[in-house]
Amino acid sequence: MTIRAVVRGIGHYLPERVVPNSEFEDTLDTSHEWIVSRSGIHQRHFAAENETTSDLATHAANRALSAAGMVADDLDAIIVATSTADLTFPSAATMVQNGLGMMRGFAYDVQAVCAGFVFALATANAQIVSGQAKRVMVIGAETFSRIMDWEDRTTSVLFGDGAGALILEAQDGTGDKSDRGILSVDLNSDGRHRDILYVDGGVSTQTTGYLRMQGKEVFRHAVEKLAATAQTAMDRAKITADEVDWVVPHQANIRIIQGTAKKMGVPDERVVKTVQNHGNTSAASIPLALSVAVSEGKIQPGQVVVTEAIGGGLAWGAVVLRW
Ligand code: ACO
Repeated sequence: MTIRAVVRGIGHYLPERVVPNSEFEDTLDTSHEWIVSRSGIHQRHFAAENETTSDLATHAANRALSAAGMVADDLDAIIVATSTADLTFPSAATMVQNGLGMMRGFAYDVQAVCAGFVFALATANAQIVSGQAKRVMVIGAETFSRIMDWEDRTTSVLFGDGAGALILEAQDGTGDKSDRGILSVDLNSDGRHRDILYVDGGVSTQTTGYLRMQGKEVFRHAVEKLAATAQTAMDRAKITADEVDWVVPHQANIRIIQGTAKKMGVPDERVVKTVQNHGNTSAASIPLALSVAVSEGKIQPGQVVVTEAIGGGLAWGAVVLRW
């Protein structure tokens, strides 16, 4: 018998304020047409001044609990993937734990920038299959609007805020690809690429800093590395491109999303896209996209889903699961 980490519920939260591309035209030398043609983004959400990452995460977490028909104390653990936690410490996850009124278990953050949700899913899966936890809430939550340099048109038009939460539960499986739950994982990083995507500040330098990106360089790595990690994870799960019902990629750029799916051999109609409405919400983008796809009735129980993401580090990876 094999223990599988099976999805029991999902939910998301987007801040109220919607920012269309046209808002940037007032302050930057840019246009709606440029942003759409280069990135596919039409709008994004920005958190209110007093709204923090753990607030967004807690809203999403409550919605996931409702969807699963659970209460907070049914959980053994909360893992939050974020690069924009409220404070240097404690973790955003312990703030969510408190916000949910959860009086047991453990909570911690994982930081792998835009690949954070994939890394957090992999971590939760490891804890479930090893028997350390039975039910784990995995959250991706970000307020990237807080690390934007509003004078930099090459980055500030691309990112947004939001949160998505997913609950995994230990269930018995047979050990083959017909099982529901996480079927395989592939994680990678290469620290030599630090300078193409980073924030130029941090605790150790006593600054907050802004996101800096060599977009073309990141783009160059993205399609090739994402297609490769997705293929590795699919091979491990013994899943072929024909068997993939949905690719749910990190939502950074429509051209990366489509280029990767093409390389994977998965047709465009089986790719979930939310980048047009959310922008790049870093670690929140995959759980947001999953939650939207479920609410639209696209992803159904029993279907095969492949997630893939790349972000600062570089760090990248993929997870194959049967919903
Ligand atoms: N409006 C108008 N013009 C602009 C803008 C803008 N907002 N931004 C840049 N330009 C200009 C540039 O200055 C450049 O002008 P120049 O030719 O006179 O120098 C021109 O547009 C072309 O710029 P490029 O950088 O070549 O544009 P490109 O087609 O590469 O698109 C983009 C830029 C959208 C950033 C793309 O490279 C990209 O998506 N890269 C990947 C980003 C990504 O995936 N990040 C994910 C990880 S994020 C994370 O981990 C936190």
